[in-house]
Amino acid sequence: MGKVKTGAYNPLPVVPIVLVGSNVNGKPNYMAVGFVNGVNIKPAMVCISLNKEHHTPKGILENGTFSINVPCANYVIETDYCGLVSGKHTDKSRIFTTFYGELKTAPMIEEFPITCECRYTGQKVEFDMDTVYFGEVIQVYVHEEALGGNGKINVLKADPIYYSGIENRYRRLGEDIGPGWRIGKQYIPQQNAPEPESPGEKYRCDIVERSARPALTIRTRVSPAAMPMAIQESVPAIIQYAGEKGYTPTGPFFVAYRDFDGHLLDIEIGFPFESGIEGGGNITLSEIPGGKSASYHHLGPYQKLPEVRTALEYWLKTNGVMLSGVTYEFYLNDPQTTDPENLETDIVYPLLSES
Ligand SMILES: Cc1cc2nc3c(=O)[nH]c(=O)nc-3n(C[C@H](O)[C@H](O)[C@H](O)COP(=O)(O)O)c2cc1C
Repeated sequence: MGKVKTGAYNPLPVVPIVLVGSNVNGKPNYMAVGFVNGVNIKPAMVCISLNKEHHTPKGILENGTFSINVPCANYVIETDYCGLVSGKHTDKSRIFTTFYGELKTAPMIEEFPITCECRYTGQKVEFDMDTVYFGEVIQVYVHEEALGGNGKINVLKADPIYYSGIENRYRRLGEDIGPGWRIGKQYIPQQNAPEPESPGEKYRCDIVERSARPALTIRTRVSPAAMPMAIQESVPAIIQYAGEKGYTPTGPFFVAYRDFDGHLLDIEIGFPFESGIEGGGNITLSEIPGGKSASYHHLGPYQKLPEVRTALEYWLKTNGVMLSGVTYEFYLNDPQTTDPENLETDIVYPLLSES
């Protein structure tokens, strides 16, 4: 596939469109903005890039505040209108119902599903035509109808508008093509993976059928670096709790890897037990799922486990095995007393039921 040089311009095919609000001379004014982005997670910071000639920057500098209002597709006409006319010549204060939040001077749009008020931090970067303003998000206001059951914004319900500068069209959200921070696990590394012709011999998994087993676990979110510490704290806590209750583990301790958001691992640390147990405090009654699973016995240092898992997942994928997404590692001997080369780990992938 050849590549063609097409010039120097912003190559993003689409951007979300928002209306930035500011009070200019005490009156709400809204302008369409495509140059908008989040720039920091905590504190939540955003930036907007505005042409120096516009009316809106005046209000931002006047009050030290602005708002970001995310329209839903029903408001595409009003949104575009706010990008066509300037508050310098046209009163845009009555297009929407304006409300104010904690900052009192950042006008927000009642009709839009998502609005937020921002404090201008005083930081700006000036370019020839545009100036980038940075703001701290003080509060986000969301229509109840745009929230999902989990209390988070449901993006389909919010129905945001995207703008394509390349084709000069507004568009809506398209189809869901996979979970973020997770679907990349399906990537098959070409360099390190075993040769496609011999995918299975070294990293062949056994497909076994097991019954579900109760377990006592501590679930936590930790960075990969903090995992050993989490294990060191959790294992004795579970052992002590089980001892007090008179429960005896029926197998070695394990870690269930549930998720990774790029920063933190969502893991469960625990032991299997006989049924009839109960959790207490931060120790939860959990279950090691039954049904089919792909299982591999690893002999060697724990440091090799990520590499082994990558090769196994390659084997499983090339063999059409559908994973449920959680991985269990059962640590069969004690790393304190065992030579790293002799450490034994069972890696278990519960499979989707249709596998
Ligand atoms: C789809 C769209 C995106 C826009 N994005 C920006 C932008 O990112 N920055 C900017 O300065 N102007 C942008 N504009 C232009 C302003 O919205 C427009 O000039 C507006 O009239 C300025 O309003 P004001 O003078 O009341 O502040 C955009 C316009 C449209 C239609």
